[in-house]
Amino acid sequence: MSESDLPKPLLSNARDAVRALRPSQIREVANAGFGIADVLPFWFGESDRVTPQFIRDAASNALATGATFYTHNLGIAPLREALAGYVSSLHGPTTVDNIAVTSAGVNALMLAAQLVVGAGDRVVAVTPLWPNLVEIPKILGAHVETVALGYGAQGWTLDLDRLLAALTPQTKLLMLNSPNNPTGWVMSRDQQRTVLEHCRRHGIWIVADEVYERLYYADPAARTAPSFLDLAARDEHVICVNSFSKAWLMTGWRLGWIVAPAALMDDLAKLVEYNTSCAPAFVQQAGIAAVQQGEGFAQELAGELRGARDHLVQALGALPGVDVKAPPGAMYVFFSLPGAARSLELCKALVREVGLGLAPGSAFGPEGEGFVRWCYACDPHRLDAGVERLQRFLSQHGG
Ligand SMILES: Cc1ncc(COP(=O)(O)O)c(C=O)c1O
Repeated sequence: MSESDLPKPLLSNARDAVRALRPSQIREVANAGFGIADVLPFWFGESDRVTPQFIRDAASNALATGATFYTHNLGIAPLREALAGYVSSLHGPTTVDNIAVTSAGVNALMLAAQLVVGAGDRVVAVTPLWPNLVEIPKILGAHVETVALGYGAQGWTLDLDRLLAALTPQTKLLMLNSPNNPTGWVMSRDQQRTVLEHCRRHGIWIVADEVYERLYYADPAARTAPSFLDLAARDEHVICVNSFSKAWLMTGWRLGWIVAPAALMDDLAKLVEYNTSCAPAFVQQAGIAAVQQGEGFAQELAGELRGARDHLVQALGALPGVDVKAPPGAMYVFFSLPGAARSLELCKALVREVGLGLAPGSAFGPEGEGFVRWCYACDPHRLDAGVERLQRFLSQHGG
């Protein structure tokens, strides 16, 4: 919905930019399944496993010893130090002055946008994309233009020339998410270099959402996907957003971080103050455990998810009319199947008729129509049960 399509406002309505935000289509599908007890949910972006015990213990201990107070806006010093060490080990020298702790990735995205985007600014985003990256700048009154990935024999790919053409000198910000939700697309190092140089020339900020960086399967020797942090100096126009949610299964904890130029930090601290003031103290303590003791876990998880991806891709590929390719990163397959041209209707029918919970491609922008997203971060037996339900649905519908 655009602002011009909105009904006339009443005195009690929110402002137009907020009323025009897209509601979640994943929620709409979940609501269609309301009252159905036996649903296999693959629609949300999280694992079916709880956070590792050593991280939960660290939070319990922190609570037991009274970590119940406000902290510094940018996070407690030991966590910022631990994160500076972690980021340095993955992407080269990074100091505490480049790190801010946030209340998860989505809050980091909002803060990053608030730092650099204002009303009327032009923002470019590569789609299909998790809706938050497109909607957040709109809350601030910015105009968002999209550049769509293409789908073909190689899976999802970027036409780099189209992206560069969209990044005009009038552009304020590029919002990029790689590894990408929902497609699993990963931007190559060469593409990142070209985009970085172009944005340098035109003074365009880059917000790089790298929350899935540890879920990267294309190069088994690499600990992370290619990152803008590998290429950019720490005082450049790059704000990198990250999260504890994916690498350490901490979705419900709401903890993340930003890597940004030191020159931004005083202003970022003010924004944190006026948004959340700080992340919870005991959650930050748990974050230290994740960063300092969680390397083995993050690597094992990536291995498991690679196995789950391969398992699901193979099983789906055997179904008639399904076109699926193994994506190089993240934790989703984004595939086409009969009926997906109206993906919202298809997903509602899947949940109603066979209790299979998938996310419609159209939830990720019009460029995602024709596809559905399946999160494979779960036990392979569960994946098999889901594939069986899909098979049943397709044969009932003439497949
Ligand atoms: C692309 C992307 N960015 C950021 C996030 C934010 O995650 P969180 O707010 O849990 O850190 C998500 C969550 O699914 C995501 O898919």
